[in-house]
Amino acid sequence: MSDLVQVNNLCVDYITFGGRVRAVDDVSFSIKKGEILGLAGESGCGKSTIAFALMRLHRPPALISEGEILFDGKDILDFSDEELRKFRWADTSMVFQSAMSCLNPVKTIESQFYDIFEAHNVVSTKEEGAERAKELLQIVDIPPERLYDYPHQFSGGMRQRVVIAMALALKPKLLIMDEPTTALDVVVQREILQKVYELKEEFGFSVLFITHDLSLMVEFCDRIGIMYSGKLVEVAPSKEILGKPQHPYSFGLGNSFPTLHGELQEMIGIPGSPLDLNHVPDGCRFAERCFNASEQCRTDEPQLRNDEARGWVACHHPLAIDFRELQDAPCSELN
Ligand SMILES: Nc1ncnc2c1ncn2[C@@H]1O[C@H](COP(=O)(O)OP(=O)(O)OP(=O)(O)O)[C@@H](O)[C@H]1O
Ligand SMILES: [Mg+2]
Repeated sequence: MSDLVQVNNLCVDYITFGGRVRAVDDVSFSIKKGEILGLAGESGCGKSTIAFALMRLHRPPALISEGEILFDGKDILDFSDEELRKFRWADTSMVFQSAMSCLNPVKTIESQFYDIFEAHNVVSTKEEGAERAKELLQIVDIPPERLYDYPHQFSGGMRQRVVIAMALALKPKLLIMDEPTTALDVVVQREILQKVYELKEEFGFSVLFITHDLSLMVEFCDRIGIMYSGKLVEVAPSKEILGKPQHPYSFGLGNSFPTLHGELQEMIGIPGSPLDLNHVPDGCRFAERCFNASEQCRTDEPQLRNDEARGWVACHHPLAIDFRELQDAPCSELN
């Protein structure tokens, strides 16, 4: 699979009264065509800031200060306003963290679909727009006759599905979903994500999926990137991130979630609290909270490197435990 998106050494700063805060620091990753990449990490680690940067939707005080974002080989940071206008919705679309409240409460769904089609000159009449919008609603299992309703006439889950249908309206190559289902119950969450997965299989687009919910992410994503305080600290196939975590932070995150299957296990949280981005230490940002930290970790910042044996991890002392093997091993071998 070739890369659709390549983010190279991206840095995003917020200019605040207290000074310049680097919310995303030297982050590099790629998203392959047709791939679902997850981004996980504690609140405030920079996930949404990356999502906004990928669509160049960041607004002051946010500033992309370094790096490049290649989409199909072209750096979107060099795009003109006209190129950007075409790029958004048609090439990349986004379901925001507060997607449900993105719908305009005083316009019908029909009229909001029409605004998208009209802005990109893809339909010539309202009737044509309505036909296309009805097809999109059916894709997300909303009865087409509901097109003429207002947002308040839908349930939360339905509104979320309407927003996803709008995001797919121009058949984008990349769909960014930032906590798309957080406000919904687990059953509806899964239904919606299952739908997105089926659509992805059908249309072949790529997805950047952001959530706090690692278990949901593991089910839904091909690979997962783990962020900590503005840094990407590990990227691995989703099955490995919980089963064979290499960064102690990925290990800690995995332990903070209950498993749905198997025996009851004690959950162990991560001691300490996230870093204050105004006071970033010299060495590894996770060192203060890490059970495995050495002197080197407090002075040298580990870089995210692709080690052939280990994959992508930014840690001086990556873990080498494979929990999947431990689970399969007979009990006698564990004692
Ligand atoms: N407008 C702003 N001005 C100053 N700092 C900001 C602004 N928006 C975000 N930040 C800071 O940037 C950092 C990253 O924020 P971001 O919203 O990307 O986090 P996140 O990982 O999406 O968190 P969450 O999981 O809570 O959505 C945080 O430390 C936040 O305080
Ligand atoms: Mg966010």
